[in-house]
Amino acid sequence: MFGALPNTVRLLDAGAGVGALTTAFLARRCTENVGLRLVHATLFEVDPLLIDPLSTAMNECTSRCGKAGIQFTCEIHHGDFIQEMSARLAGGFFADEPPTFDAAIINPPYRKIGASAKERRVLSSLGIETSNLHTAFVSPIRRLLAPSGQMVGITPRSFCNGPYFRAFREDFLSDLQLRRLHVFESRHAAFRADSVLQENVIFHAVKGKTQPRNIDISSSSGEPDGVIRQRTFPFSEVVHPHDTERFIHIPSAQSHEDAKQALRGLSAALTSLGLTISTGRVVDFRLKPALRKEPGPGTAPLIYPCHFNGGTIHWPKLDARKPNAILDNSDTRPSLVPAGIYLLTKRFTSKEEKRRIVACLYDPSEVDAPWIGFENHLNYFHASGQGLGRELAKGLFAFLNSTAVDQYFRRFSGHTQVNATDLRTLAYPSRGELEAIGEDMKSLDLSQDEIDELILRHLNAND
Ligand SMILES: C[S@@+](CC[C@H](N)C(=O)[O-])C[C@H]1O[C@@H](n2cnc3c(N)ncnc32)[C@H](O)[C@@H]1O
Repeated sequence: MFGALPNTVRLLDAGAGVGALTTAFLARRCTENVGLRLVHATLFEVDPLLIDPLSTAMNECTSRCGKAGIQFTCEIHHGDFIQEMSARLAGGFFADEPPTFDAAIINPPYRKIGASAKERRVLSSLGIETSNLHTAFVSPIRRLLAPSGQMVGITPRSFCNGPYFRAFREDFLSDLQLRRLHVFESRHAAFRADSVLQENVIFHAVKGKTQPRNIDISSSSGEPDGVIRQRTFPFSEVVHPHDTERFIHIPSAQSHEDAKQALRGLSAALTSLGLTISTGRVVDFRLKPALRKEPGPGTAPLIYPCHFNGGTIHWPKLDARKPNAILDNSDTRPSLVPAGIYLLTKRFTSKEEKRRIVACLYDPSEVDAPWIGFENHLNYFHASGQGLGRELAKGLFAFLNSTAVDQYFRRFSGHTQVNATDLRTLAYPSRGELEAIGEDMKSLDLSQDEIDELILRHLNAND
């Protein structure tokens, strides 16, 4: 993915493992040498068991490069990249100047890092806010690149959306030009040997303040020798100019394009509909003593995703492992909502589920109670804390359960988690349109085709 590079390249491989990426970089440069004279690689690896095989691999690189007329030198740092580079980037009297690189190639480790993790603290002192190890690698690397320096990385796709990566996206896009994104259609293929379920992305970014006019998006199955399909999109379709969340959309499939076409006329923000989406307020482990398996005197219904039953709520579900009720008292009342019609969505869907967005209508005529508890694994749409009008809720139900919205969602989300922010950033039909859709719905028990037909008929009527 790298573009043209200078004759002398300072290469960074952070989290080098046994040097596969540096080896691949050099192998390509050796076969396609266009005036490259010298490569100096800086490799960081924290695992002591990998240092010897890494040195061996680098020796092999030296001889291969020699044969191709490229001088190759390297330094292997057995240590923690984040700690070492953060200290150098932070400066201070005794700190060495941070190095500068023309190219960085990375496949960083990934896992969540808690608020008190040492990585989080050192990076925070540099103004880098990050919640995962892979972004904890990318952010300092951005700072270590020379002007026009290039970074190619394979990372989880999770940084492209979601509130936890907002600060990272802001930082990343502030002076890295995103030139290309590649996604793997299968989450299984690339990391099958490790049985890792992660949607991954490869990105190519170049240090420079402005974003390009166009960006290349490619995809492949993830199988070796899989066909790569590539298309060019205006950058404004990938990061929307007015999106304060800075979501990175990856329109890699034709269905994503169709979804965008279907939803093209929509412009209503959720707030303009007088609606808000919130995460269920009952965090069950915090209110454990108040939870009840069965409803009884002094309790309110407690709704979990397991109560979703097609388009409506099936409650109580006495054979479920989850509690069905919560005591309604002064401790729990702040976590409850008043009776009304609410639209609920699951925050986590299983891989098997066809759609990522699964919406369901909570109707008080089916559950007789003045207060309700919505558990934290679901999000709920409400109007300033109160329920919604029936037709509006039904229209919203059909819209969110449509294939078009699901495919649109997949443009910017590669995981099975659906955050409230994700749904907040969607553009919606107007209130009138949603109510008309709601009125047109004879029942909530529609097939996917019927929902799609209904939505497309109403949205196309605007053209
Ligand atoms: C996903 S592996 C990638 C290895 C290699 N780049 C490749 O693509 O085959 C990530 C590597 O980063 C190393 N690593 C993890 N945390 C590190 C840190 N803080 N500093 C340096 N290396 C680290 C791990 O030991 C592991 O070898």
